[in-house]
Amino acid sequence: MAQSRKIFQEQLISFMQQKGFIWGPEPEIYGGLAGFYTYAPLGKRLKNNVENKIRDVFRKNDIWEVECPTIMQKEVWKASGHLEGFTDPLIECSKCKGSFRADKLIEEKHDVVADAFSDKKLLDFIEDKKIKCPTCGSPFNKEIKKHNLMMKTTIGTGIEAYNRPETATTTYLPFIRYVDYFRKKIPFGVFQIGKAYRNEISPRQHVLRMREFTQAEGQIFLFPEQKKEWQKYEKIKDNTLPLWPYQMQEAEKDPKDTKIEDALKKGHFKNKAYAWSINLAYTLFTEMGIPKENIRLRQHTLNERAFYADDAWDLEIKTNSFGWVECCGIHDRTDYDLKQHAKASGKTLEALDENNKKIVPNIIEIAFGTDRPVFALLDIDYRKEEDRTILKLPKDMAPINVAVFPLVKKEGLDTIAQEITDSLTENSNLVAVYDGSGSVGRRYARMDEKGTPICITVDFDTLKDNTVTLRDRDSQKQVRIKIKDIDRTVKEMLFEGKK
Ligand code: GLY
Repeated sequence: MAQSRKIFQEQLISFMQQKGFIWGPEPEIYGGLAGFYTYAPLGKRLKNNVENKIRDVFRKNDIWEVECPTIMQKEVWKASGHLEGFTDPLIECSKCKGSFRADKLIEEKHDVVADAFSDKKLLDFIEDKKIKCPTCGSPFNKEIKKHNLMMKTTIGTGIEAYNRPETATTTYLPFIRYVDYFRKKIPFGVFQIGKAYRNEISPRQHVLRMREFTQAEGQIFLFPEQKKEWQKYEKIKDNTLPLWPYQMQEAEKDPKDTKIEDALKKGHFKNKAYAWSINLAYTLFTEMGIPKENIRLRQHTLNERAFYADDAWDLEIKTNSFGWVECCGIHDRTDYDLKQHAKASGKTLEALDENNKKIVPNIIEIAFGTDRPVFALLDIDYRKEEDRTILKLPKDMAPINVAVFPLVKKEGLDTIAQEITDSLTENSNLVAVYDGSGSVGRRYARMDEKGTPICITVDFDTLKDNTVTLRDRDSQKQVRIKIKDIDRTVKEMLFEGKK
């Protein structure tokens, strides 16, 4: 199993490099530094499509985008708790002195979630299972050290500062401004999509674990009593989610499709607002095109929760390369952050409830990034079929919407193909490319590998009746349509049922 995963990983990563999705570790010409990658032209378009889908879902749920600084002074991170508590368990090789993240070493080799293991449990597990240094094969020292993930920098000549390790903290700080902007109405929601930085010990899972990465975190500010009376809950309570509550994780190997209302009754979710937030996280990922059968929602065990979280569930995606991967955390951060920042800044961070009582709102956060879903889409949709390699991306997410070919570059077929490409690009606002080199079969194969859902070919019949052939990537079926119908047909094929 581990071996077949490894082979798949290597094939996929080399595919991503060759076809222009993701390059690195960067800077490649200097030998590369673990944890830093470049999104190549197709990868960047895919990532933009993922991010725009996130914007779309948040917009539909009245959650507003903001953009805050990525660097903040020491006081902020002292108050947030990151300077003290944002650490990973580090273990050192007894011989080559290489350092590794102990929980990840375990997870790479065994199908367990080791985030929650105590230091003793990590050491015992590594010893029992005889896990050795991946570099030199020697045993590890019998000690776990705490490694802080914050990346330090200096502002001006002497202000100690840190690159943000999450967007969340920076989103909370303009709280007084939000209250004013939203005309003192609580609840409200804001989100950021932007870079965050973590000084990972030994990032080794491609863009799943980077030192510089893109987060997308939604923050719902609400009063504690609103959690029980969350009106938006009524619309989603009959939805079903693949839930794996922590009490079930020992006994049941798989999550169970559970109606949200039943999960609330059984006490898996503490309240309606939290249940609604979990449903929103699930919607975000299904809208991005992650298949439902590849998603599960796993509740954190009590000692696995982040230092700020009262309740926490992870949305995990099953990948071919790395098995189940955590892709989103839904945390009830209570009033922890606002209270901490009020204390440290000396400002009052409260709002008036309907009884005119001053209250520090709570925050429920939907914390995720955009690198992992991009990786997951590539991983899940990359297929080697009998006679072709195909990237079966959801049609509305593909980096190139449509490719246009002249059958041959003669008798004006190339001019017509170029005109169709230009019209699709300029008038239809799609990403269209012209390709006139090699056999048509070869050109289809190139587009299948890039995930392009539709190819249009201009041939000699076009000269007679103004029609073209339109080929569907997945079924490989071809139909003939009029040039004047291209725009409508292509948009139907790409976006039908999506808006
Ligand atoms: N804001 C939570 C996280 O970065 O995981």
